[in-house]
Amino acid sequence: MNNCTIKLPEKGMDKKEILDIMKSYGQGDANYRDSKTWSLVYYIGEEHTQFLKDAYSLYFSENALNPMAFQSLKRFESEVIRMTANLLNGDRNVVGSMTSGGTESCLLPVVTYRDLARSKRRLWITKPEMIAPESIHVAWEKAAHYFDVKMVHAPVGKDYRVDVEAVKKLINRNTIMLLGSAPSYPHGVIDPIEELGAVALENNIPLHIDSCLGGFILPFVEKLGYDIPAFDFRVPGVTSMSADVHKYGYSAKGASTVLYRNMDYMRHQIYVYTDWSGGIYASAGMLGTRPGGAIAAAWASMNALGEDGYLEKTRIVMETTKKIMDGIRSIPELEIVGSPDMSVFAYKSRSKKLNIYAVGDQMEQKGWNIDRLQRPKALHAMVTPLHERVVDEYISDLKKSVEYVRGKPGLASKGNAAMYGMIANVPLRGMIKNEVLKMMEDMYGPERKMPGLASGGPDGEKEPLFMKIAVKALNAIDRFRKED
Ligand SMILES: Cc1ncc(COP(=O)(O)O)c(C=O)c1O
Repeated sequence: MNNCTIKLPEKGMDKKEILDIMKSYGQGDANYRDSKTWSLVYYIGEEHTQFLKDAYSLYFSENALNPMAFQSLKRFESEVIRMTANLLNGDRNVVGSMTSGGTESCLLPVVTYRDLARSKRRLWITKPEMIAPESIHVAWEKAAHYFDVKMVHAPVGKDYRVDVEAVKKLINRNTIMLLGSAPSYPHGVIDPIEELGAVALENNIPLHIDSCLGGFILPFVEKLGYDIPAFDFRVPGVTSMSADVHKYGYSAKGASTVLYRNMDYMRHQIYVYTDWSGGIYASAGMLGTRPGGAIAAAWASMNALGEDGYLEKTRIVMETTKKIMDGIRSIPELEIVGSPDMSVFAYKSRSKKLNIYAVGDQMEQKGWNIDRLQRPKALHAMVTPLHERVVDEYISDLKKSVEYVRGKPGLASKGNAAMYGMIANVPLRGMIKNEVLKMMEDMYGPERKMPGLASGGPDGEKEPLFMKIAVKALNAIDRFRKED
């Protein structure tokens, strides 16, 4: 369908018909209900989902922009923050706010610490810098980009945890904050938070822990007796944390928290403008209008699950993770990347002869939604409670996929494997960036082309754009080499 033909219908449509159309749009979506996805959705069943919808609906129209108008929402928010602070071993001084998601909980501390540094009149800071493990979530790169703070990467060691000695060496007069993950998205490992805390204290620099993934599961992993290092407000030097309720808190999307050790830090997150024609404006986060439903559903989810519910879900998740990792270890060609601390992990090929991305392609053909890492080249998984029922199927499909790919090196240059392999190997990252940018322009442009869809997007786009990127980048490299 031509883009210009899509217009607001002249007459409002039948609501049943609308809902039917909407359902039909979702037919090709990732199948999270049958546990075929390993990221994006933290689904624990229809009953809980319906409960979240009910809770969301109760505050569907309410707007948390003005906490005076909707004191109910402020109360939910305060209680979510207090419950989360207690989970993360914060004392009574710990304060915070709810945000729209992990990314906002990563963006805000960068503004906070940039402005904290400015408020201390550290005027020599002309170009603020933040030091983060190279494995830090990409949301922090986005924050650095948005707020013009220089991102300084510290290398990770062989165990994929940040090298604290390297962090020490990178600190300079412009450093406004240090960062650690608990755990990191790519490898699922907790950085050495206690050592980072000591460095932060010694240098009087704030330290934020990104626990978007771990915040609502690690406290229970620990209570179940697993041996994990301290990662939260118990560690002196940790000044703030982020933890997502819409991940392992099993809430509706649009709910995360950002917490500070005390108001001396959080103060710098709050935006106040007094000279607007529209009146005096104050807000603790990035959004203006904030959906009341997401805040209400987060409160509801935490109260419905309670300590015992989260412990039980965590027990299942940890046992399921072990079963899957054991299954992967039983396949001689594969190995787990590092020693993951919880339920997020990656696995790679032991041999150059087996292309791991081609294994991913085979898994996708069998109906799984597979995420890929580029450093190292690996496949990735985040385990949720309902994955318990698909362990055997996943491992059996993985064995078959490995068997199929083994001895077929040609598969590395086909399908998504070609694209991921090439993208991971191309040293000229600027070129890849340009091609990805073009792909995004295509997706948001008038033609609305959908990338990566072999079967075509809504407008019948037949060729996967990711493949085009691969081919274009390879051609560009060829040209570059020839010109050289
Ligand atoms: C460690 C970490 N931080 C931040 C984020 C960003 O969260 P969101 O996708 O909710 O914006 C993620 C998402 O997976 C994450 O794993």
